Amino acid sequence: MCGIVGYVGARQATPALLGALRKLEYRGYDSAGIAVLSGGGLVVEKAKGMLQVLEDRIAGREISGCLGIGHTRWATHGEPSDVNAHPQTNTSGTIAVVHNGIVENHQRLKEWLQSQGVVFRTRTDTETIAHLINYYYRGNIFDAVLKTLHKLEGAYALCVISSDFPDRLIAAKKENPLVLGFGRGENFVASDVPALLEHTREVYYMDEGEIAAVYGDHVDVFTGRGERIIPRVQHVDWDVDAAEKGGYEHFMLKEMHEQPRAIADTVKPRIIDAPGGGRDIFFEELPGTDFWKDASRVVIAACGTAWHAGVVARYAFERFARIPTEAETASEYRYKNPILDSRTVFIVVSQSGETADTLAAVRLAKSRGARVMAITNVVGSTLSREADVRIYTRAGPEIAVASTKAFTTQLVCLYLLALKAGFVRGALSPEDYQKGIAELLAVPDKAAEILARKGVIQKEAALQFNKNKVFFIGRLFDYAAGLESALKLKEISYTHSEAFAAGELKHGPIALVDDRTLVIALATQRALFDKIASNIAQVSSRGAVTLAITQDTSGYFDQAADQVFVIPQVDDAFSPLLSVIPAQLFAYYCAIQKGNNPDRPRNLAKSVTVE
Ligand code: F6R
Repeated sequence: MCGIVGYVGARQATPALLGALRKLEYRGYDSAGIAVLSGGGLVVEKAKGMLQVLEDRIAGREISGCLGIGHTRWATHGEPSDVNAHPQTNTSGTIAVVHNGIVENHQRLKEWLQSQGVVFRTRTDTETIAHLINYYYRGNIFDAVLKTLHKLEGAYALCVISSDFPDRLIAAKKENPLVLGFGRGENFVASDVPALLEHTREVYYMDEGEIAAVYGDHVDVFTGRGERIIPRVQHVDWDVDAAEKGGYEHFMLKEMHEQPRAIADTVKPRIIDAPGGGRDIFFEELPGTDFWKDASRVVIAACGTAWHAGVVARYAFERFARIPTEAETASEYRYKNPILDSRTVFIVVSQSGETADTLAAVRLAKSRGARVMAITNVVGSTLSREADVRIYTRAGPEIAVASTKAFTTQLVCLYLLALKAGFVRGALSPEDYQKGIAELLAVPDKAAEILARKGVIQKEAALQFNKNKVFFIGRLFDYAAGLESALKLKEISYTHSEAFAAGELKHGPIALVDDRTLVIALATQRALFDKIASNIAQVSSRGAVTLAITQDTSGYFDQAADQVFVIPQVDDAFSPLLSVIPAQLFAYYCAIQKGNNPDRPRNLAKSVTVE
């Protein structure tokens, strides 16, 4: 996720761009840049770090010009640095591009452009776009952008200027948001409405595949096939705060809704066509996959939600790859005297990449000779620098303290690794490997389907938010999903909640169950339906109210539980990706019922950089 802006009109572009970028910093803040047409040429200024670093760099200098584009970055390809920051330009610096999204086929396009003699300066996918536009440029910038778009696979929102066309910018959108803002004698482009509100409230949300030529006095909008359309301009009456949250009441709600997009962005670029037919999993970040063949065990270390992703992955690695796997809390691991050898695959998971306990576990593992593979959301974080290899989740910045989209994107990375390991080791048949890939590709739509039914969960939360304890029960994958569900609920609703392995209830925890208890049974694994139904009966008979989250559609749990929420059909092993979403929503709506601010829960911080 990045923020992009564009300005064309009669005013100075630089202050307009910087002001608009300030409103988009929540979309990314590891580097920023602008390109302004000044004195007949493009002046490009870029800086690693927060927007302030860029502002300080250009303070006191006059970059005069009335056409420009700007960008605030959340790196996906290439470390945060001055050179990787956007705008990216063609070799002669006459075309500048800002981009939000992922060009999935950028590697192939890059190799082809290199074969045409183009020299690349960065590892960004965006530089490919600038060179491609240059390649197709025959005196008409709009046509060159249109031809380029037809070559791009993946998602983009982009804005382009050329020194040959001082009166216009070109904007295009596919899968990532882009809004046009209509002023008097000036027009704007932005990733999101907050960037526009200082100047105008008349906006047009570009539709899929559309491309626009934006001038100071008018805007021409076309479909991807080049047919002109009349934009339906809307008046925005939100305040800036609501606008930053995209119209959602809280960042947490927005981030839960971003999960379909975040999961797709994390999975799709890693799926390629296999040479012999079918599909394959490919991480460009990983140097080969032979290490899986020699692996004797996998150790996953992480904290909190990231550790829960590791617990799910433990089952996935054992099921798909038949490798003994442990999931350790990093805060404990750092004080162990761990047994590690060169055949152990050591994986650490961290959204921020800055968690002190996780970094300590990494340093310990490295000192014992382990090679560390990191899964993190933040390019350039301490973890990404210290690990031997790193894999990025593409969730975009997570602002709410309670982690949601980071969790599900960590999970899909771990599933991809487990499937690949299973295939490489011969533990997974080619058919099951293909089925696994298909399951992951189908998750975004299924997640969206659950989110569309959030009202059901909201009603349930309104009935249950006052329970004085909530227990999540389940076995294996469901138990792992329960751990994360219970953490979400306790973090933001301050309700005492715990997860229990369902079979363990009778060994002690059932003593806690009474009529002030809500038990949420995660019942997604078909072979275990009977077992979990008995557990539900045991707690019901002790007065608990029960809710089953299941993928059974036969009505089996209607008899057993007081309420049933059915998730879309999914292979049992992938169910945590879906079953956690109603639990996230439940936690959110319980917090709202109690009057808590879910974005800023008491006593918690987003990044835990102390022990
Ligand atoms: C829970 C949550 C925390 C983090 C934990 C690790 O919602 O966000 O439990 O998961 O503090 O943080 P990272 O993933 O940044 O290492």
